This record gives sequence, structure tokens and C-alpha cells, in this order.
Amino acid sequence: MENDTIKVAIAGVGNVASGLIQGIVYLKEYEEEKENLLHPKIGSYEAKNIQIVAAFDVDSNKVNKDLSDAIFVPINSTPQFIQVEQLGVEVFKGPLKDGLSEHLRQVIQVAEIEEANIVEILRKTGAEILICAIPTGAEEAVKAYAQAAIDAEISFINCTPTRIASDPTWARKFKQANVCVIGDDLQSLSGGTVLHKGFLDVLKEQGVKIKDTYQLDVSGGLETLNTLDDDRKQYKRNIKERSIQESVINEINIASGTSDYLEFLGNRRIGHFWIFGEGFMGMPVKIDIRLETLDGPNAAGTLIDVIRATKIAINRAGNGPISSICAYGFKAPPVTTDRHTAHQWLNEYIEGRRIE
Ligand SMILES: NC(=O)c1ccc[n+]([C@@H]2O[C@H](COP(=O)([O-])OP(=O)(O)OC[C@H]3O[C@@H](n4cnc5c(N)ncnc54)[C@H](O)[C@@H]3O)[C@@H](O)[C@H]2O)c1
Repeated sequence: MENDTIKVAIAGVGNVASGLIQGIVYLKEYEEEKENLLHPKIGSYEAKNIQIVAAFDVDSNKVNKDLSDAIFVPINSTPQFIQVEQLGVEVFKGPLKDGLSEHLRQVIQVAEIEEANIVEILRKTGAEILICAIPTGAEEAVKAYAQAAIDAEISFINCTPTRIASDPTWARKFKQANVCVIGDDLQSLSGGTVLHKGFLDVLKEQGVKIKDTYQLDVSGGLETLNTLDDDRKQYKRNIKERSIQESVINEINIASGTSDYLEFLGNRRIGHFWIFGEGFMGMPVKIDIRLETLDGPNAAGTLIDVIRATKIAINRAGNGPISSICAYGFKAPPVTTDRHTAHQWLNEYIEGRRIE
């Protein structure tokens, strides 16, 4: 049955969570700012319809706190944009598994209490969607949350690069459970990957043959510290590079990803783009650009759209991966397409002109 509120639970009270929660409160206060979203309204839903009802983390400084306080624990570097009143949502300890990389273990102390029964909490709070926003490379932990969503019979949004929506076995499990799975690897609203693909698209449309390109960034966020572990860094890079390769026709030299952690940058991400190609008569075409953004709000801008689109899917009794939502908001969706088509798919889906 349709209702106005979208009840959401979140695993991982890090910078994405801080951006999302502040974003929702911010849009309640500054209605006019909703024009900065790509979809001020999705169906009848606005950002203010999203209500966070449960949260999970493992950090001793976040667990047992009210979510409104936990998002501002200093290890989270997303700046405070707005006062967040007490939410009445306690952060519970989730399953740790492989959540913390070697580097994260040096700065995060795991809460020494029993892990909560997440399925029971999801059911009790009436959550309809579980968002997974835990560190890159936490494969087993992401799968534990995906299974919890299935067991609680609610939909799952996977912000992490772990393959869930794009993995046929997991996709089938969600389909059989009659709930939606959306992912994988959230694409920031004005992030490096989307802009990189945009530059390449324009050049391609104008007849330039791309030869080599890189987009390398540095940041001071926790997620960047996490990806100092080589296997986690490579994991994220592979996804970004595949996503870029898919947007050009010919095989090219590509490097894309985070190159270093600079604590003093905090939540800022500074990306350097280099593109080299050949235009008419072999004329060299070079682009060399620097982009500076903040990770938390950048993630929230996409996520607020994705949550509301997922609620539409829930209202329509959708199940398994919803390809339009995945292609619109994620770097590694089950079905990839170019940015324009992804936006068109989402609009058609929202308007009921597309079945998934
Ligand atoms: N713009 C963006 O920030 C952006 C864009 C695309 C994808 N993502 C993805 O979103 C995810 C979250 O990013 P972030 O910047 O918020 O990370 P973060 O490091 O700021 O926060 C991660 C949080 O997860 C917690 N955690 C670790 N293991 C856990 C477990 N087992 N259960 C519950 N909580 C656990 C950590 O304590 C931390 O609070 C990452 O996988 C990242 O790749 C982020």
C-alpha cells in the first residue's frame, strides 16, 4: 500500500550517511534548494518523505549514539551544513566481518558489545529499504547486509562496489524474495566518473578518437584511507576503469581511481583529468582539468533520487534489479548504458512507461 513516508535503514554511519541525513534535513529547511537535485520530485515523493528508522555501524564512537550525533563524530569529515535535531534512532552494532581494512583498524575501535539482530530491527522499525554504505572491499559484510534485507523482505540499495545487483546469483535471490536490489557502487552527482564519461562523450560525439586518459584523485576521507589497502584500491579502480571503458568505443589506455590519502583534505576530493585524442586530420586534442568536490554531499545528491525511485518500485511490487534505477545512479549496474539513456530510462520508469 502506498504511503507518504519512505522508511529507510542504513548500514555504515560514515560520510555517505552524513551527507544523506544532512541533505534530507537541509531540504526540509531550504525547500528552494531541491532544484539542485536532478529530480526535485519523483512521483509524489520529495526528499522530506525519507525517514531514517534504523542505523548500524561497528565503530565504538558511533554505536549506541543517536544517529544525529553519530554522523558528526570527528572521524567523519563531511562538514556540518545544518543543525540535525535528535532523530530518536540509535546506532546498533552490525556484523563486523571484513568491514575494516588494515588501515581502518588503526583508526577505528570496534565496539565491544554483541552484534544486534539486524533482521529483527529491520522488521520492528518497519524499514522498507536497507542502504549499504560500508567501506569498499568489505565483501562478506556487504553480503551479510544483503542477506538481512532478503530475510527481512525489504529492498536493498548497495552503494559499495561489491557485486550484488549485478551478480546474477544475488539478483535471483532478491527476485525470489520479491524485493528490489539496486546498485552497484553509487555514482556521485558531480563525481569524477560521471564527469570523465561526460568529457569523453562530447569528444567522441565531435569525432575525436580518444587514445589515453586518466582521472586520478586524492582525498582525506575515511574511504580513501580504506583504499590505501592495495586490494581494496584495485577493486575500486577496476570498477571505475570498466565504467569509463564502456563509454568509449575503442580500447584505450585508462587509469582511474584514488591515488593517495591526504588527511588534511578532509572530505574534499581533488581530481585531475587528462584526456588525449586525435581530431580531424590527426590534430592532437588534449584536456587537462582539476575538479574539487566534497564526497558526502556528492553521494547524497544521487542517493536521495535513488531512494525515492526505489520506493516507486516497491509500490509497483517490483523485484530483483530495477535496471533503470541502477543505470542512473551506479557505476557498475547490471545493465550499462550511456548517461543520456540512463536518465531517459529513469524518467520513463517514474512515469510508468518502462517496466524496469
Ligand atoms: N561520494 C561518495 O562518498 C561515494 C561515492 C560512490 C560510492 N561510495 C561508496 O559508499 C561506501 C561508503 O562510503 P563512505 O564515504 O560513507 O565511507 P566511510 O568510510 O566514511 O564510512 C563507512 C562507515 O562504515 C562503517 N563500517 C565498517 N564496517 C562496517 C560493518 N561491518 N557494519 C556497519 N558499519 C561498518 C565504518 O565504521 C564507517 O562509519 C563505500 O563503499 C564507497 O565506495 C561513496
